[in-house]
Parts: sequence; structure tokens; C-alpha cells
Amino acid sequence: MSNILIIDDEKAIRKTLSEILSYEGYKIDEAGDGEEGLKKVKEKEYDVILCDIKMPKIDGIEFLEKTKETNPDIPIIMISGHGTIETAVEAVKKGAYDYISKPPDLNRLLITIRNAMDKTTLVAETKVLKRKVSKVQEMVGASTPIHKIKETIEKVAPTEARILVTGENGVGKELVARWVHEKSNRASGALVEVNCAAIPSELIESELFGHEKGSFTSAVKQRIGKFEQANGGTLFLDEIGDMSLTAQAKVLRALQEGKITRVGGDKDINVDVRVIAATNKDLLKEVEEKNFRLDLYHRLSVIIIHVPSLNERKDDIPLLVEKFLVDICGDYGIAKKAIDEDAIKALQQHNWTGNIRELRNVVERLIILSGKTITQSDVENYVLPKK
Ligand SMILES: Nc1ncnc2c1ncn2[C@@H]1O[C@H](COP(=O)(O)OP(=O)(O)OP(=O)(O)O)[C@@H](O)[C@H]1O
Ligand SMILES: [Mg+2]
Repeated sequence: MSNILIIDDEKAIRKTLSEILSYEGYKIDEAGDGEEGLKKVKEKEYDVILCDIKMPKIDGIEFLEKTKETNPDIPIIMISGHGTIETAVEAVKKGAYDYISKPPDLNRLLITIRNAMDKTTLVAETKVLKRKVSKVQEMVGASTPIHKIKETIEKVAPTEARILVTGENGVGKELVARWVHEKSNRASGALVEVNCAAIPSELIESELFGHEKGSFTSAVKQRIGKFEQANGGTLFLDEIGDMSLTAQAKVLRALQEGKITRVGGDKDINVDVRVIAATNKDLLKEVEEKNFRLDLYHRLSVIIIHVPSLNERKDDIPLLVEKFLVDICGDYGIAKKAIDEDAIKALQQHNWTGNIRELRNVVERLIILSGKTITQSDVENYVLPKK
């Protein structure tokens, strides 16, 4: 249900508007002047605000200006008396959504409100879409390790060097890979991702190299593999530590010779692909245990970028939390929630075994369950039960 705030010093006007709009199914709050209105906007989220122009204390124009600073997306519809039409037009220039005249015409009022709500939805959707199409998520953090990682990316991205990204679950390995691609000379080419852990070992070859029609029972038509798809671009081999030894041998050949063969095919296909691999395993230990080929390890790890765990860079937590508050509240189409210092401190005490992914989930949970400001007790109630 949508919330509407009506600000007018004339009680009779508030009452009429409130009755009409409640009847239409809106939830209504009232304020008697701009000052009270500002207080209400701080406490609650409104979808539309109706605001009189001439009022004691803080008038409609001042209310408009102040609210535009803090909540630029809430549509404000001015209610204008006989003497204030010109001021109302002025208000629209200053960012008011529209104005209606007193006494309000019922149809015009309802249509204006409906249009204003549609506009809010559109603005929110556009913001989400814009972020989705913006190519790569920002890498947030001011800690020394993050600075070093960014520096390394700047240096190695424009080269053709293969890169191995290591680090625990959810530390941001994929994000590093995306930035390397983005800043490389292959940025206009594709970034093709393969999650080696998610593909059954008998299918991984066909996934990577493709297959010819009829090469095995379920191969009902020809398929182009990820290496070919990534031609001219970057291939991101995620969870490389989980790749079978047979697949490893074929990947090695592809890297050494720049050639692949589709499963069931006989011709060599040249591919120009830069490989970035990632793993949360200790690959040298896997080599010792004969699960990973040493020659492939050396081919993949020309440059190693290690992304440290969140527990090793808790200084970054405030910045990350701020970023997630903006993103997630934006996705939900609600005003950005705040978080107080003690709550941040409490988050810094936490043992982040799931790293940044876990932090993002926790912030999302806090946004859903807390009030306008996330407090230490919210963190204690909703986050800390785990040691
Ligand atoms: N420095 C950062 N700033 C902002 N967001 C980040 C940062 N690092 C990671 N993230 C976000 O955290 C989430 C997890 O990151 P990512 O998928 O890159 O981790 P990963 O190391 O590949 O995890 P896994 O090992 O589970 O595959 C993503 O939503 C990513 O956008
Ligand atoms: Mg990943």
C-alpha cells in the first residue's frame, strides 16, 4: 500500500484530502506545517507528498527545498490557494512534481497522484537498470591489500599474462577477474566464465571445447565451446582446482598451442584467448596430492593475485557496508537506511567466514529487519549468534 503525506495548516483541507485518498486505498499521514512535515519525512518513507504553500514556521517552498536535498526522488505535489498559483509554478521549476489548486478537483487530484507514483517506480527501476548495465561493480576498499590489488590490476591487465586469482570463498576473486578483463585490450571482446566445479567431469570437455553433432549419445547438435566463445576475449576458469585431470591435460594443450579440437571433431581450431583462473584451494598442495598438474599450474600462474579474507581487512567494513546500503536500498526502491557507529563496530567484531558475500547478505538482512537506522542491538539480534 502506498503512503501519502498531506501537509497543510488548514485542518479542513487535510481532512477532505485524507478522506478521499483513504477511500482510494492510500495510507495517509498528516502534518500541520512544514516543520512537522520534515520530521515525518525523516521518520517514514512516503511515496507522494501533498504540500500547501502558505504555512506558518516552515512554508511549502522551504519544505520542498529541504526535502529535495535529502529525498530527491519523492514526488511533491504543491497545493496552491488563490494567491499562490505563481509560487506554485515557481515550485515546479524548483523540482515539485506538479501542483493542484484549492479546492482540489477530485479527478485531477487522483490522476496527478497516480502519475507521480508511476514516475517514482520508473525512477527506481531506471536506477537499478543503470547499475545492472554499468559494466563492472566498483571494487570498494581503502585497506593496503585492496590498494595493492588495484595497482596490480592496472599493471597486468593490459598485458597478455595469464593470471591466477586465489582467496577464500566470497572474497571477490570474480570481481578481480572482471576488472582485469575490463582494463585489458580485450575489453571489447567477450568475458566468458566457466565454473569448473559446477560441471560434471564427463561434460567439462564438451563445455570447454565444444563438440560435433553425434560425437556422443546426447550430442544432438554441434556445440561451440567456451574457448571458442571467448576468442578475442578472456576466458575465466573459476574453481580451477576442481577440474578433472583429463580436462586439465586438454586445457594445457590449448594454452600451449593456442589450438583446440571439438569433442568428436578432427580439425584443429585456432583460438586467441587470455585465461584468468581462480581457486579457493591451495593448488600447490593439490599438486602434491596429484590432483593438479604442476605444468598447468605454472602455465596459469604467471601472475598470482591473492585476495585476502575480510577478517584480514576489517578496516574496509565501513566502506563496504555503505556501498551495500546504497545498492540494496536502491534495488528495493526505498530510501537509504543509515547505520550507527556502534553497529559498524559490532560488525567489525564478527568472524567473517563467508567474507564479502556474507557481509552483503548480512547487510541485506539488516535492511529488511531494522528501522531507518541500523543499531548495535540490531546487529546483535540479527547477526551475532554465530561466533
Ligand atoms: N571489494 C569489493 N567491493 C564491493 N563488492 C565486492 C568486493 N569484493 C567482492 N564484492 C562482492 O561480493 C560478492 C562476492 O564476490 P565474488 O563473487 O567476486 O567472490 P569470489 O571470491 O569469486 O567467491 P567464490 O569463491 O564463492 O566464487 C559479489 O557480489 C561481489 O560483487
Ligand atoms: Mg567466484
